Amino acid sequence: MGAVIASIANLKGGVGKSTTTVMLADGLAYFYGMNVCTIDLDAQANSSQMLLTEIGVQAAYEQGKGASHLLKQFMNREPANAAPLIMPNAVTLEELRLSEQQDQRQGWVSILPSHPHMRLQELDLEEEWYSKAGTPTQLASALQAHFSEAFDHLRPLYDIILIDCPPHLSPLARAGLALTDIYITPTIADAVCTWGTKQFSDWIGANIAADLPDRNFVVITRFRNTRYARQVASELKELYLNDRVFGPNIPESVHVLNAMDRAAPDSYNTFRGKYGGVKGDVRRLAERFYEFLAKQTGQKWQKIRD
Ligand SMILES: Nc1ncnc2c1ncn2[C@@H]1O[C@H](COP(=O)(O)OP(=O)(O)OP(=O)(O)O)[C@@H](O)[C@H]1O
Ligand SMILES: [Mg+2]
Repeated sequence: MGAVIASIANLKGGVGKSTTTVMLADGLAYFYGMNVCTIDLDAQANSSQMLLTEIGVQAAYEQGKGASHLLKQFMNREPANAAPLIMPNAVTLEELRLSEQQDQRQGWVSILPSHPHMRLQELDLEEEWYSKAGTPTQLASALQAHFSEAFDHLRPLYDIILIDCPPHLSPLARAGLALTDIYITPTIADAVCTWGTKQFSDWIGANIAADLPDRNFVVITRFRNTRYARQVASELKELYLNDRVFGPNIPESVHVLNAMDRAAPDSYNTFRGKYGGVKGDVRRLAERFYEFLAKQTGQKWQKIRD
């Protein structure tokens, strides 16, 4: 079957979905040598910008790469295949680039980027679909069928596929969520995010994956070590989501902001240069998720760096 599909999703906005997608992609490629493909299904194109920069996102779009071209494929009833739409080697880490140059390829991050234009494209698609008396649910199913086949072409090429989801349930978002093997839920330790996370968890459990607790990996992001945040985090872990696996808390840190602010499309960083003071947090995130993934899939990867 090849790569599993893990979606990074929550109905609450701004909880660190895109940031977690990039940290996990970098962490799994760097520490485990995995070939990672990230898929950006959000028209905000945030993880695409974090990996490729704004210039890179535009260049990808002009080269016919990315999720908006996948939508075009669907709209034009072309054969479903995401492989030709991938930006390969969208990596920012010098170590990985050098190992590729020395023909010691160990770990890579590729991307099916988004583009802000996708927002209008989604509207056009919905308008056309609904004008023919189709329903949002039928559109979601048709998109799911197309994506499922399109992503099947990616599964043999990668170790893992990470989908960065938008904070809503548009037909496009539902299509992505429906073909997900593992759900990664970032949340912030406060009352409104806890509420949003519970709603999301209930909705996925009721509509898509009745066995969600078994396939759910939760990460508390932007964690500030206050008494309030510790209290909310322990309520989440012990009360509301006590049947889930939790990753390490990711601290609120300027190092994270720096890491996601790539200077230029041709800029390369070492892992330490990119993540600075949160390098250990990214490593722990990759390690804990790796344990979860290995348990889910029965597959093992060697740790190649410490
Ligand atoms: N650990 C962190 N420390 C500091 N800032 C962070 C951290 N994680 C995320 N942020 C910032 O918080 C904001 C929201 O993060 P991000 O875009 O990853 O969330 P999201 O859930 O993908 O949002 P959306 O719902 O809009 O897609 C961004 O400005 C990001 O830079
Ligand atoms: Mg996002």
